[in-house]
Amino acid sequence: MNPTDTPRRNVILSGMQPSGELTIGHVAGALRNWVALQDEFDSLFCVVDLHAITVRQEPAKLRRRSLDLAAMYQAAGVDASRSVIFIQSHVPEHVQLSWVLTCLTGMGECSRMTQFKEKSDRHSDNINVGLFTYPILMAADILLYNADCVPVGEDQKQHLELARNLAERFNHHYSPTFTVPEPYIPKLGGRIMSLQEPTKKMSKSDPNVKSWIGLTDSDDEIRSKIRRAVTDSGTDIRYDELARPGISNLMVLYHVATGKSFADIESEFAGSSGYAPFKEAVADAVAEYVRPIRERFVAIRADEDALGRTLRHGAEQARERARKTLRKVYKKTGFVEL
Ligand code: TRP
Repeated sequence: MNPTDTPRRNVILSGMQPSGELTIGHVAGALRNWVALQDEFDSLFCVVDLHAITVRQEPAKLRRRSLDLAAMYQAAGVDASRSVIFIQSHVPEHVQLSWVLTCLTGMGECSRMTQFKEKSDRHSDNINVGLFTYPILMAADILLYNADCVPVGEDQKQHLELARNLAERFNHHYSPTFTVPEPYIPKLGGRIMSLQEPTKKMSKSDPNVKSWIGLTDSDDEIRSKIRRAVTDSGTDIRYDELARPGISNLMVLYHVATGKSFADIESEFAGSSGYAPFKEAVADAVAEYVRPIRERFVAIRADEDALGRTLRHGAEQARERARKTLRKVYKKTGFVEL
């Protein structure tokens, strides 16, 4: 072994779509975990703009949001010197691998995807083929880098299952090529719910702005949204997702913002009269938590040259790795080498 060889660290890859405004849900459910994982793993984090166009996007907005998201990854603590941060469309190998995988995927495998069914209902005026093959492109994102582990939300589990099946199928038809990836689904904070309808996921596309906390909301906006959050009947602070979705959601936010356990939170507010003191504490904690992220975001986003350099560097690192995988895949598939 070459003395400079270091053992291979396990690879993680994840991505988010630049398709909406950023909320605290992005940090609580995903970015927080990426930051925690980036030391232990060889990490790649992608802005999946190719996925975003499966629903209609305004070009100028898409461009702005892609840069916003890349800046937000860093503002939340993803470190471009330790992790690869890149934009999916900068690495053409994603689309190239996706085509090969498309030809290994059955129609039925795509048509039974829950998210495809949901999105076809929601965008019934634009059920395009990209929406249908979306999970194959996602499989390409993952397999291109031989990711061992993929941090995703519960809603992406089915897509990850397809990525695993495609890896196994290719390996079996040709020869061992791809790592079969494992999902990594965070237990807590994975889903932040709407502040107005706490049985629905918090979403930036919700027209009621009081239902979500934006990562660029001011301290006052954050406090006011939390004070006005819908809570449940009852008066005590107790975690019960089903019977007390409103209070439980605020407890998750408080946990994310302070690191306190549910047991600690329950005893902190045991015997307090009504929800008001608890809401006040959550409002302050969340405002404190978001403030430095917002400040870093504004600074990073303001320096577009530096952001551009980071993304160029990320794309170069990603491409070097992607090219190697794609070359093997093309060769095994039977394409003539030039
Ligand atoms: N489909 C994912 C989502 O909406 C985003 C995504 C695209 C992704 N490619 C990925 C996540 C690869 C993890 C790995 O959340």
